[in-house]
Amino acid sequence: MSFMAWLDARFPATKVFKEHLSEYYAPKNFNFWYFFGSLALLVLVLQIITGVLLAMNYKPDAELAFASVEYIMRDVWGGWFIRYMHSTGASLFFVVIYLHMFRGLLYGSYRKPRELIWIFGMVIFLAMMASAFFGYLLPWGQMSFWGAQVIVNLFETLPFVGGALSEWIRGDYVISDVTLNRFYAFHYLIPFILVGLVFLHIVALHKVGSNNPDGVEIKQGPKGNKWSADAPADGIPFHPYYTVKDIMGTVVFMAIFFAIVFFMPEMGGYFLEQPNYEPANPLKTPDHIAPVWYFTPYYAILRAIPSAFGTQIWGVLAMFGSILVFFFLPWLDRSAVKSIRYKGWIFKSWLAVFVVSFVMLGYLGTQPPGGSRTLLAQIFTASYFAFFLLMPIYSKMDKTKPVPERVTE
Ligand code: HEM
Repeated sequence: MSFMAWLDARFPATKVFKEHLSEYYAPKNFNFWYFFGSLALLVLVLQIITGVLLAMNYKPDAELAFASVEYIMRDVWGGWFIRYMHSTGASLFFVVIYLHMFRGLLYGSYRKPRELIWIFGMVIFLAMMASAFFGYLLPWGQMSFWGAQVIVNLFETLPFVGGALSEWIRGDYVISDVTLNRFYAFHYLIPFILVGLVFLHIVALHKVGSNNPDGVEIKQGPKGNKWSADAPADGIPFHPYYTVKDIMGTVVFMAIFFAIVFFMPEMGGYFLEQPNYEPANPLKTPDHIAPVWYFTPYYAILRAIPSAFGTQIWGVLAMFGSILVFFFLPWLDRSAVKSIRYKGWIFKSWLAVFVVSFVMLGYLGTQPPGGSRTLLAQIFTASYFAFFLLMPIYSKMDKTKPVPERVTE
């Protein structure tokens, strides 16, 4: 008996391989934008491997944490390489995910029947943000300390429970050794929860099948191709066609990744911020506190909303709202078509407004507030929310083009 026959009698190895790879038919017209799902998976794995290696020499103790990171950088063999891979990986994870989500916006991948793929994606996104936030405290530098201080203090704006809640999160009256310990515990845990969530994301995807740049449902089109009589005519086996395509994407991505790791790991202060090379000092507030670039759009929204009625809660609500509003996208978009290819100028213009608002808020979040910058942040906050909240109206008004019966490439 062959090994595979022995295994298949006890474990559905060949069955799963066929169902999800060699006999899983994906639309034949995937383009550049379809690289980022597999790249996100790659980065998640890289983060877990480099993270576990870092944990072997890192010390989650307020007295030792900063020095243990310096020890990793200077004395541990290859330590600098592992740490730069992990810090670069964190930023590139967000680059990849933002492009992956933007693809969803372009092709309406969040729409029926893919609402659940989108919702799992959003839960993944929240978990990623939490993990990045917890991880940022660990080097115990100035920005680690003060960044965590600012974010945990946000909970204080909640009426009645705020004070007690922020104290409960910190485990202390200020960010301290206790906080560092629990943030480390969560930072180590969340990536494994992410693995589970990604599994659900893919299970949901394989139940309904991938969307594609035309937004045409290939399962509803004609059947039969050269591999199988019941496969969608516009589908091709995921393996070997897309496994090979994804390897190509992986090679290009890794070239960019290592160019950054080797030549510009700090990325001019965007991937690793300068104040974080100074140990945390609770008695010295940095002049200007800003999160890492991937959080700056939301930070700009937080700062754009002034306090009113004696509370700052409005800014906090706007900041959380700016992320949570993505969950509702499947129901906000009322367009007759899915893909941007067949949408009209109104939707296209609003999408452009959103992209400009997001990028500008990201830039403004890195800058100190004040003067025209605050006004600009308010304008872009308004246009950011308008993109979502007016979508039910403008997506319906938009004059769409006829969608072809089958994919076009
Ligand atoms: C660790 C993070 C993530 C991983 C590893 C991941 C992985 C994947 C993979 C492998 C695919 C199929 C290939 C592709 O379409 O590119 C996919 C599809 C998809 N993902 Fe993700 N994803 C992640 C996060 C997200 C997030 C944050 C969202 C949005 C909120 C999202 C929304 C989607 C959607 C809508 C699809 C279907 C796209 C289509 O069929 O056009 N994903 N994901």
